[in-house]
Amino acid sequence: MFKIGKIELDKAVLLAPMEDVTDISFRLVCKELGADLVYTEFVNSEGLVRASEKTHKKLKIIDEERPVGIQIYGANIDSMVGAAKIAEAENPDLIDINAGCWVKNVVGQGAGSALLKDPPYMQNLVRAVVESTDLPVTVKTRLGWDHSSIKILEVAKRMEDAGAVALTVHCRTRKMGHKGDAEWEWIPKIKEVVSIPVFLNGNVLSAYDVKAAFKQTNADGVMIARGAIANPWIFRESKELMKSGSIKTVVDEEMRINTCLRHLELAVNIKGERRAVLEHRKFYSGYLKGLHSTSKTRNDLMQFTEYNGVEERLLKYLEYLQNYKSELIV
Ligand SMILES: Cc1cc2nc3c(=O)[nH]c(=O)nc-3n(C[C@H](O)[C@H](O)[C@H](O)COP(=O)(O)O)c2cc1C
Repeated sequence: MFKIGKIELDKAVLLAPMEDVTDISFRLVCKELGADLVYTEFVNSEGLVRASEKTHKKLKIIDEERPVGIQIYGANIDSMVGAAKIAEAENPDLIDINAGCWVKNVVGQGAGSALLKDPPYMQNLVRAVVESTDLPVTVKTRLGWDHSSIKILEVAKRMEDAGAVALTVHCRTRKMGHKGDAEWEWIPKIKEVVSIPVFLNGNVLSAYDVKAAFKQTNADGVMIARGAIANPWIFRESKELMKSGSIKTVVDEEMRINTCLRHLELAVNIKGERRAVLEHRKFYSGYLKGLHSTSKTRNDLMQFTEYNGVEERLLKYLEYLQNYKSELIV
């Protein structure tokens, strides 16, 4: 058991920050399915301090999803301090600093995983943010820039010294992007050098991976990104598996389709019908994963701009799947 601010956690299973994915509706779905802590997508500190309305909207959180962290990114210390204050006004449970993003235009600004190139600067940045807010500050980073410059043990100590209250490590280097096996074996080494909670991230795709990650590394938490898009039940499943040794609730076609619709309904209420339906298109391949003969349905779903069309098409597909199954039962 450990605490981050007022949040008490134990073997926490967390929803990772994901740009254009972890908006309120998806965070709520994952929370309902057992995520212990959820995060906003990363929010650009420069956009926040310039008072960009579009950037500011990304900070919105609601009570039903708590505990929730707002993640901010940037390279400039003053902008990060300014952004932390703006984020604090939204009253999240914590502020997370992104020091792991690998994409070119973020790294090109000296932000995200580029911070790993200069650990003393990264430490100053994190300390400045910690000192500027009453909220707990956590950091999400990677092992290092590439395999010839893995600095995570030094970085972890510096983050703790700077006042970060937890550290998430995406167990890949910047050079690996999102590919290649995550190197979980670093987590026990990191835990030896710091006493703050350490969360493992990378390559966690099933409840079995969650259990294995805790068992092999003694991490304080396991953070899931892509595995939650295809399977948001991973949070509940991993808890069942760790508690009782088996997964009780089998996710069938009805659950997949109903959750897909529930997610869309939440999104429609939050951001309006047309935008919600268009943005939902990226979730269909995840929700329909593993179901029989999905291509035609997925193609049809891409045409709709209204909730009713999506609902009707998905319910028709569900009926087809149920008939298909019942014909096979002798
Ligand atoms: C679509 C997408 C968007 C992402 N956006 C963010 C982000 O905003 N902030 C962040 O820290 N990491 C972001 N990531 C990285 C994930 O949080 C995570 O570190 C990475 O995907 C590895 O975890 P996984 O193997 O469980 O996917 C993103 C990943 C994906 C796939």
